[in-house]
Amino acid sequence: MPNLPTSRTVIVRPSAKINLTLHVGPKRDDGYHDLRTLLQSITLHDTLTISARRGPFGLACHMPGVPSDRSNLVWRAADVLWEAMGQTGAPRDAHIKLEKVIPSQAGLGGGSADAAAALVGLNTVWGARRSRRDLMRLGALIGSDVPFCLQGGTALGAARGEELYPVDDTHRMGVVVIKPSFGVSTAEAYGWLDEDRKASVTADAAAARPDASHPRDVEIGWPSGALALSNDLMAPVSRRHPEIGEMVAACLAQGAVAAQMSGSGSAVFALFAETGAARAARQLKRPDWLVLVSRTQTRREAARSMGL
Ligand code: C5P
Repeated sequence: MPNLPTSRTVIVRPSAKINLTLHVGPKRDDGYHDLRTLLQSITLHDTLTISARRGPFGLACHMPGVPSDRSNLVWRAADVLWEAMGQTGAPRDAHIKLEKVIPSQAGLGGGSADAAAALVGLNTVWGARRSRRDLMRLGALIGSDVPFCLQGGTALGAARGEELYPVDDTHRMGVVVIKPSFGVSTAEAYGWLDEDRKASVTADAAAARPDASHPRDVEIGWPSGALALSNDLMAPVSRRHPEIGEMVAACLAQGAVAAQMSGSGSAVFALFAETGAARAARQLKRPDWLVLVSRTQTRREAARSMGL
């Protein structure tokens, strides 16, 4: 039984991520793909209220479509930290209330963000005293994006995406996120990429479809140079879901500097000058699109939001 601090409650606000670039290498023997990805945290966030409470561990989440059972990565985070503390049996003596804002099955790292926040909050509530480095190592056992969620800002991700190299924060940019009515499972998106590579369907062939338009090859401002957005998963996903191309085209028509699918989709993000995002978002509203306004976040801001 952990040493329970007196009725402690911790509030953690984990941020969503977008992938400014995502280069997917070959499939490895363990079923994962080698990645090179430039990750960026944005201000869009969930809120977890983590409280010390006697009895079995519990999770409450009232967002339709988001499970509060053991399939939620928050449970996995509780299991992993509990075990790392040398405890046996099921986790106990903590309760988490999860308020969702980050859309699920969107490629925005929402589940990973919640798991990262659970690690941080439970670390305090259970008095586990693990360092951030320890939590990042435990996070990698939960999902490839979890370590980044514990770091935030801008970072280069390698291997499965869990090996991180910090880079200069980007200039602050406005971000519009559009989530269509459908979601995409990460495993499925990587499966489609493998399928298309096997069948030699090239990104060019997908781009030739008028309904799967790709982002302009634009360079965005960067302290140490310039960067062109790219995402190897976008062609295979937009071939199966042409609406992705429509969302990108709509963002570019509203003056986005660049727009592309985030991670494995189904959300698309668009970059704007900071002041331009809200106006564009109003123009982009459609009954079947959830349109959210956000901005890029520095590593420092992300850490503050996580209570680190
Ligand atoms: O690591 P995570 O649990 O988020 O990954 C979900 C799925 O996405 C994996 O089971 C795998 O199918 C796919 N994936 C991959 N290569 C990566 C990351 C994820 O193939 N680098």
